[in-house]
Amino acid sequence: MGSKTGGLSIRGVRTWLEGPGGNAAEQGGRFKALRGAAAWVTTPLLPDDYLHLANPLWSARELRGRIVDVRTETADSATLVIQPGWGFDFGFRPGQYIGIGLLVDGRWHWRSYSLTCPPDWTTPRRGGKRLISIAVKAMPEGFLSSHLVNGVPVGTIVRLAAPQGGFVLPNPLPEKVLFLTAGSGITPVMSMLRAMDRRGQFTDVVHIHSARTADDVMFGTELSRLRERNPSFRTHLHLTADHGKFVPGDLDAELPDWRERSTWACGPAAMLDEIEHHWRGAGLSDQLCVERFEVERSAVGEGGRVTFGASGRTAEADGATSLLEAGESVGVQMPFGCRMGICQTCVVTLSSGHVRDLRNGDEHHQGDKVQTCISAAAGDCTLDV
Ligand SMILES: Cc1cc2nc3c(=O)[nH]c(=O)nc-3n(C[C@H](O)[C@H](O)[C@H](O)COP(=O)(O)OP(=O)(O)OC[C@H]3O[C@@H](n4cnc5c(N)ncnc54)[C@H](O)[C@@H]3O)c2cc1C
Ligand code: FES
Repeated sequence: MGSKTGGLSIRGVRTWLEGPGGNAAEQGGRFKALRGAAAWVTTPLLPDDYLHLANPLWSARELRGRIVDVRTETADSATLVIQPGWGFDFGFRPGQYIGIGLLVDGRWHWRSYSLTCPPDWTTPRRGGKRLISIAVKAMPEGFLSSHLVNGVPVGTIVRLAAPQGGFVLPNPLPEKVLFLTAGSGITPVMSMLRAMDRRGQFTDVVHIHSARTADDVMFGTELSRLRERNPSFRTHLHLTADHGKFVPGDLDAELPDWRERSTWACGPAAMLDEIEHHWRGAGLSDQLCVERFEVERSAVGEGGRVTFGASGRTAEADGATSLLEAGESVGVQMPFGCRMGICQTCVVTLSSGHVRDLRNGDEHHQGDKVQTCISAAAGDCTLDV
């Protein structure tokens, strides 16, 4: 039976909020109005306490989602289908990524994952509710990716950070497109391909994807179906166990018109370095868009006590732990986006002390703006957050 508050049926409100249709702006307006109402009705207690009782996906403070399906893609990768709660922007651009936070052993762990679904994705199997999907490849010794691929139960409530990122297609689409991907780097391109397919908007698109063997190809069956449905879409699988690593220099023979194509590339750092070098050499850097999943950390800080000025909380951090992770470990709400030194969302002011950039060892001093996701303490320091 649906519970009632005055004339307000919880089930009715839930259907209204979670129902299909409506654009992101409308959803955002609904969310804000309801959040305001919830705060008013539940004052002086926190609205979240009541909302959580009604539905764990409802929160006035943060974006949440429920994992509703986990599908195996390959031996070491899986697609996770998530039903977001209030306030999620389903109008994201294909190629963008989200932050996902999981509570493991009493601590929230955050990582970034590219969305693999098209915007406003629904499936009849889930009653027309709007969903999102990500696909995760378990990294050897990777903490969260292994958990997401091999252990996370359906029904788990996760925290979400809003979609963002500049690895997106322009509108209208270029006449000639090249996607170069390897391994899990196929994920943002999958969202782009699915969106093109759904809108019936395939231009002349070539996708060259590297994987170790045919069994390691994520979305292999779907790529074949997309190709059958869209004659202007061509794929080439580069199996590295048979042919060695993909070399950009081979493009002259394999795809003679590669210079005429707008190119999006995503994969391991070494492959992306080579591609960037090759495009630069051809004077075509402005035709290349690259998405990196990892950051090269070649330095360590000295470690020290990090004080978070606004809350007065402190964390003892070693020289390999980022200031972002240090803050999260003691419950400080740190701003973040990519967690890889790309987006600048995590920048805060260093109020005192020194920190070190983990990418190159550069030291920052009092008054500097620092990226907390790729900086570690170099002695005791205080952050203005
Ligand atoms: C914008 C963005 C989008 C991303 N999208 C996806 C996606 O769609 N699918 C996906 O599977 N992953 C994606 N990632 C990578 C993801 O965020 C995690 O970094 C990855 O899943 C590893 O997390 P972990 O907790 O298992 O590894 P950790 O426990 O954090 O790290 C374990 C070890 O692996 C190394 N490592 C971490 N990540 C990588 C990596 N990508 N390549 C090589 N070594 C690494 C670390 O340096 C460390 O030594 C994305 C990253 C970014 C920044
Ligand atoms: S979170 Fe993106 S640069 Fe730090």
